[in-house]
Amino acid sequence: DNVHDKSRGSLIVLEGLDRSGKTSQSNRLVSYLKEKGVLVESWRFPDRTTSTGQMISAYLANESQLDDRAIHLLFSANRWEKRSLMESKIMCGTTLIVDRYSYSGVAFSAAKGLDFQWCKAPEVGLIAPDLVIYFDISPEKAAERGGYGTERYEKLEFQKKVAEHYSTLRDASWKIVDACLPMDIVEEQVREFAMACILTCQKGKPLNKLWS
Ligand code: TYD
Repeated sequence: DNVHDKSRGSLIVLEGLDRSGKTSQSNRLVSYLKEKGVLVESWRFPDRTTSTGQMISAYLANESQLDDRAIHLLFSANRWEKRSLMESKIMCGTTLIVDRYSYSGVAFSAAKGLDFQWCKAPEVGLIAPDLVIYFDISPEKAAERGGYGTERYEKLEFQKKVAEHYSTLRDASWKIVDACLPMDIVEEQVREFAMACILTCQKGKPLNKLWS
């Protein structure tokens, strides 16, 4: 039988500080992969369309107050409610390009002072990304890029702490891209990392779970 019929898609996650450029790079990557004939979908967390997503969105816009642990668990629940759909898409051959995932979940909550291991716990068992592309930029440089917006976490001191926690989360699935390089260069590196990952997954690399 045909190997291609059985090949799965990849879970590719893009992470980085606010204003690291990952959202534009995500869009560019998805267009490129579509042109190449790859079955691909663009995803993001928080998924603001669900009911947990609407609570998160109101919180981020400072329209509501929530306990630090409660909002942490909502971000996590917002991923859990998508887990089985993600798995079935990936197993049916669709590659998901996901803007933020559990790494944001841990890095941003830990930056508030919550215990790092406590933050990781609710993420355990979610699908592990096949590849994490980290858009590396200093918090100062990110802040210079037209300044931060009005959302809750878009403050320099906070982003510095987020960056520290991100570096603790790095593992073998991570590829670091210098987000200060010209956009076209960044785009080219992202394409190469993504294509190599997609090929490895097609060849039968098993899908894993966080954090094991
Ligand atoms: P996002 O929607 O990517 O931001 P933007 O408004 O810049 O497009 O994410 C919103 C914020 O939520 C961002 O500062 C990171 C933070 N965040 C968490 O704190 N925990 C999480 O689990 C996720 C996915 C994001």
